[in-house]
Amino acid sequence: MGASYKTVTWTPHKKVYDRWLLIGVLLYLATFLGLGLTLKPNTTIETQLIRALGTGAFVLLHVILAIGPLARLDRRFLPLLYNRRHLGVTMFVLALGHGAFSVVQFHVGGTRNPLVSVLTSNGRYDSLAQFPFQPLGLAALVILFLMAATSHDFWLHQLSAPVWKALHMSVYVAYLLLVLHVGLGVLQTERNPLLAGSLALGIVVLIALHVLAGNLSKAGDETPESQPEDDGFVLVCQASDIEESRAKIVSLSGERVAVFRYDGKISAVSNVCQHQNGPLGEGRVVDGCITCPWHGYQYRPEDGASPPPFTEKIPTFRVRVDEAGTVFVHPTPLPAGTSVEPATIPA
Ligand code: HEM
Ligand code: FES
Repeated sequence: MGASYKTVTWTPHKKVYDRWLLIGVLLYLATFLGLGLTLKPNTTIETQLIRALGTGAFVLLHVILAIGPLARLDRRFLPLLYNRRHLGVTMFVLALGHGAFSVVQFHVGGTRNPLVSVLTSNGRYDSLAQFPFQPLGLAALVILFLMAATSHDFWLHQLSAPVWKALHMSVYVAYLLLVLHVGLGVLQTERNPLLAGSLALGIVVLIALHVLAGNLSKAGDETPESQPEDDGFVLVCQASDIEESRAKIVSLSGERVAVFRYDGKISAVSNVCQHQNGPLGEGRVVDGCITCPWHGYQYRPEDGASPPPFTEKIPTFRVRVDEAGTVFVHPTPLPAGTSVEPATIPA
């Protein structure tokens, strides 16, 4: 859908959200600095600032990674999902501040280029206790930079959805690098049980949320048990099993298909949104269009095409409903944007 879509502009709602985000970040930094300098008066303000920015970025990264599964588990988290990119860019700015101050504090003033110094000043790759943890932070920062720099929908269109998605999935690589950065870094010197406990808790909560959300989508991902009919159509469910304006997601020939019921009709389309692969079958029909639950891209149920002026298209599937209200779908996807007559549900 074009870059002019409302979802990527600053709506009043987003402005309020951004204001609260900024207030939250400033409060966190101020509290961290205040407490840090009071409880550890022998540390410098630079050290405390590096810690405040580093932990702030890391905490935000946990929030960002938790939003996806939370929105799957409870629809009330969906508004956070719409605004996730602002969180991501804020997290990157904090991480950049932390990285830049660390480089200035520990690597400027020598004979080597500061970045070369980050990579080469500690060669103890053979020792867990003295492992060079800073290059791990630098590698994560490079990934986070690439993600922040390409976060706008403009880049989604330039790079194509699959490439963009793959790039943004590398946030999990960045997360792993950062767990090692923190675990092999400050935890080795500080040996603070509170820090170690928080790190472990963060990892466990994120894994648990992802597993729970994964199980939930597997449970909703019904595979029709019936064999194809003579004409190749497969029985998927009764029309009455589908809520009005909603869909049932079924797996046909390994592909997720969203079978929608609306205005006494049934249509089936691919479950994958063209924007960022959002689960269309978890959305609903609004104003005659299937509306993605993630960022609101829309597609007409009868041909899988976005309404003008937008140009996105998704594959459609042939459907039929028999007199008993049983829904059959042909498992072969039609080319994206192909018009298919919706099946009428008998009265
Ligand atoms: C150029 C990249 C980076 C460098 C040179 C760097 C350097 C450092 C250093 C020197 C410390 C120990 C500071 C201390 O003794 O308190 C540290 C800790 C830490 N770093 Fe990084 N870091 C980088 C990137 C990152 C990124 C991208 C994140 C998170 C998004 C991050 C999160 C943390 C956290 C949470 C800690 C533990 C808390 C602290 O002591 O600050 N770092 N890093
Ligand atoms: S609108 Fe963003 S994934 Fe569908």
